[in-house]
Amino acid sequence: MFASRNAVKLAARAFSTSVASQSKVAVLGAAGGIGQPLSLLLKANPRVTELGLYDIVNTPGVAADVGHINTLSKVEGFTAKDQDGLKKALQGAELVVIPAGVPRKPGMTRDDLFNTNAGIVRDLAKACAEHCPQAKLLIISNPVNSTVPIATEVFKNAGVYDPKKIFGVTSLDLVRASRFIGDKIGKIVDVPVIGGHAGITIIPLFSQVEGLSLTTEERDALTDRVQFGGDEVVKAKDGLGSATLSMAYAGARFADSLLRAASGESVLEWAFIRTDMFKNKGLEFFSTYVKLDQDGVKEILPLPENISEYEKHLIQKAIPELKKSETKGSSFVANSQ
Ligand code: NAI
Repeated sequence: MFASRNAVKLAARAFSTSVASQSKVAVLGAAGGIGQPLSLLLKANPRVTELGLYDIVNTPGVAADVGHINTLSKVEGFTAKDQDGLKKALQGAELVVIPAGVPRKPGMTRDDLFNTNAGIVRDLAKACAEHCPQAKLLIISNPVNSTVPIATEVFKNAGVYDPKKIFGVTSLDLVRASRFIGDKIGKIVDVPVIGGHAGITIIPLFSQVEGLSLTTEERDALTDRVQFGGDEVVKAKDGLGSATLSMAYAGARFADSLLRAASGESVLEWAFIRTDMFKNKGLEFFSTYVKLDQDGVKEILPLPENISEYEKHLIQKAIPELKKSETKGSSFVANSQ
């Protein structure tokens, strides 16, 4: 079921030559810690025919550098100083990936970034709603549990909202969970991760990994490591930011999934999206299993029936947290009209 999602196959895909159509990808925040390696990986992806790189600073250098890589895509870089720079980066984009904003420092939660990043995501989403309303939005900027509701409200206000096209990128949690289990069992398998993208809202479903047997202590320790794996990187970088390289890898993988779906492949992914799954709890956004097609989300699949009692308990604990972040995001847009 997740056969195409391991590292080896991703690498093989990256150099496949079966490109279907013209696909422009815009990266907003392209000169940052995530933006640069993400732009590199997108340049290496033959499905991408054009890259529009935008950041408030330093984008021309990134575009010139990445632009020398000998894949056929065209690369253009714009900054806030360029007249209509953001518009030019966005026009014609099929995907817009947004890693713009400040990252965490040791001791910070993702929610601590809200005050700075909420406004950045709101303004960039406004530009997307105006210049490429049909594009799929891939939001990396934290706190994802709030920034996705922010972009959603902006699109609703602009009258161009399509829930099939706005995604919070939670792929790094899946990549981490897969890696941590890989360390234990000596092979890379896919581990579904649902919920959201912050602390206890990140819920790895180890029950869904065939043949995996964990003691209660192992399960608790691994769950905690997936939920707080980002902190390991923040601590190791010691004030110089959070995950950038692994995030770029995970973001490029998610972008590739959408591009493959756009070219007609049937693709399954996990993403933070608008769903009725927990409507009875007043929750609108949840990361879950989706089928993708050329329009974005084709179908939201139900949670597996055989998830464990422990995982069900984690979901119940996550829902109020998710709801809080969701309300914080949507209220921010309502109050900044
Ligand atoms: P960074 O500080 O290295 O780069 C951010 C870039 O955004 C900078 O180049 C900056 O100039 C640019 N920027 C700021 N305001 C902008 C605006 N209005 N328009 C365009 N660009 C703008 O930060 P880094 O490490 O790249 O992280 C970016 C974001 O990604 C952070 O919010 C971080 O928390 C988040 N993140 C999300 C993850 C996820 O799993 N979804 C994982 C890791 C980080």
